[in-house]
Amino acid sequence: MVKQMLYRELGVTGERLSILGLGCMRLPVKNGDSGQVDMDLAVPLIRTAIDSGINYLDTGYPYHNGQSEIAISKAVKDGYREKVFIADKLPIWLVENRQDMDKYLDEQLKRLGIECIDFYLLHTVKESYWEKMISNGVLEFLDDAKASGKIKYTGFSYHGELELFFDVVDSYNWDMCQVQYNIVDQNYQAGREGIRYAAANGVGVVVMEPLRGGTLTKNVPEEVQEIWDESRVKRKPAEWALRFVWDLDDVDVVLSGMNTLEELKQNLETADQGYPNSLSSEEKEIIREVKSVYSQRKQYNCTQCGYCVPCPQGVDIPANLLQLNNAYMFQDEDNAKMNYYMGVKEEERAVNCTGCGECEKICPQMVPIQKALMDVRKKFEQN
Ligand SMILES: NC(=O)c1ccc[n+]([C@@H]2O[C@H](COP(=O)([O-])OP(=O)(O)OC[C@H]3O[C@@H](n4cnc5c(N)ncnc54)[C@H](OP(=O)(O)O)[C@@H]3O)[C@@H](O)[C@H]2O)c1
Repeated sequence: MVKQMLYRELGVTGERLSILGLGCMRLPVKNGDSGQVDMDLAVPLIRTAIDSGINYLDTGYPYHNGQSEIAISKAVKDGYREKVFIADKLPIWLVENRQDMDKYLDEQLKRLGIECIDFYLLHTVKESYWEKMISNGVLEFLDDAKASGKIKYTGFSYHGELELFFDVVDSYNWDMCQVQYNIVDQNYQAGREGIRYAAANGVGVVVMEPLRGGTLTKNVPEEVQEIWDESRVKRKPAEWALRFVWDLDDVDVVLSGMNTLEELKQNLETADQGYPNSLSSEEKEIIREVKSVYSQRKQYNCTQCGYCVPCPQGVDIPANLLQLNNAYMFQDEDNAKMNYYMGVKEEERAVNCTGCGECEKICPQMVPIQKALMDVRKKFEQN
């Protein structure tokens, strides 16, 4: 299926990981129900990935309602466990105290059917959870879990702002971090600067959402497709997107959520060429043009600067506008709507806007915020 898998060393751990990792958040499911993994398809898919040289599987407590961990437990029987690193994550939003941390880790070890989790990450570190986790003793918990042999390496997956990312990296002797990075999200959350900082500090870098959860490969806008088509080098959007991330020499593993053998095969073939600094300046220019087209498709010129918050009614204006712009940029309203409901708390949604207009007085981009919030309500709140 693949000529040879390329490997890169993960930060200071020295572990040689395949440049393509399997994200087990999007396994094949039955009847479109994400809580019902189709084990007859998922287990062979995971094993084919391992047989093809992939040695890094990423899962999380909530993925597929716990069935992602179960699918891995089935797949790594019969000698497969020794061939692969398993990364799992502590669901920090469910954790109230130190006892909860131990409880989830034990439950995850049981679900996975293994004695030790190779990489144990704090899941979704961001501003709203970080201080609470620190005061609840999460770093001591990680030390203890390591000492007891229940986990081998520590890490965190990140969804906060860049400023906090630096603090988190500095706060502990992390082995790795997992960040979102793709053609469009180069300066979003940790972004390019965060990746550089982590790598410079010996923290291994695993990238998630390289295809932006599939939005860079589905419903590709005509203007974007035209740019891809004009290129002398012919590639599918997924190939461009993966090659873009592998081009960075400070990225170690790129996780993709592949839910069919066909997607796995295609991404393995792309991985054959996933060398650092392998894109020509002409190819990089093409990618810049594509990024610029996506940016221009934004309907509202919100730069996420946050000047508009706190809103007197508690509306998280940047978070609302982010998903609204995503709906326009990627022609994928369903995905933006799902992220809106998952990522914006009820009390911070557009529906709470009373039209006081304080936000518009301060917005440096002069975004018509009240109109945009009405648009959010029309797009996401109705029907
Ligand atoms: N906070 C966190 O810790 C966090 C957050 C997000 C993700 N993750 C992890 O990171 C992993 C990777 O993120 P992701 O799943 O969003 O990765 P991704 O690669 O950006 O998106 C995966 C989706 O892209 C599409 N795809 C994959 N290969 C393709 C190909 N060759 N051609 C066309 N489309 C293709 C598929 O969409 P279709 O299904 O529509 O075919 C697939 O579901 C996740 O699976 C999860 O393990 C962690």
